[in-house]
Amino acid sequence: MAGGTSTGGRPEGSLEISVVTDQAAMDAALSVRFRVFVEEQHVPLEEEVDGYDANPGANPAVLHVLARLDGEPVATARLLLDQHDHGLHEAHSGYPHIGRVAVLAEHRQNGVGRRVMEALHAEARARGIAGITLSAQLHAVPFYERLGYTARGEVYLDAGIEHRDMDLPFE
Ligand code: COA
Repeated sequence: MAGGTSTGGRPEGSLEISVVTDQAAMDAALSVRFRVFVEEQHVPLEEEVDGYDANPGANPAVLHVLARLDGEPVATARLLLDQHDHGLHEAHSGYPHIGRVAVLAEHRQNGVGRRVMEALHAEARARGIAGITLSAQLHAVPFYERLGYTARGEVYLDAGIEHRDMDLPFE
């Protein structure tokens, strides 16, 4: 059971995180992103979904993960293996990029976001990747700092939201 009550960073119920390999799981991940980014943050749908969301499991350039709590989709994120620079900031780390990190509002502050990020870090390490870069919404910078990321460069606007680049070298 998960009612949004904090349990000291441990989600109530059974949290399962898996790599997305079929359309049903991709649809579940997109349903989470729709609620978080389109409904809650008012990102236009045409900006939210892109080619990295097509052909789940068949595109070697991207890896999506989906978190289910007691079987229900609650969170997602994706690792872009071919995108080492999002193009918005002149300085960049050269690491692959994690993005679209989303936890349903009622399941936040229970450690779900951390678990999703750790799952993608493990997948990246298994592929011999040396570190991760991401474009953090300003409010989420402390979340990524808790995971070991450090901020780099200036604050900039993307989809009308303030962002800052952050990096996590694995060693
Ligand atoms: N400010 C400060 N600390 C935060 C935080 C915030 N906004 N969100 C999480 N943390 C801290 C937690 O307290 C926890 O700290 P601990 O290590 O001391 O226990 C740690 O970060 C892990 O938090 P967790 O509970 O795993 O995070 P979450 O499940 O609430 O997910 C987000 C965090 C950012 C993914 C979630 O708030 C979200 O989906 N927001 C909307 C979408 C979004 O903005 N995504 C990021 C785009 S860059």
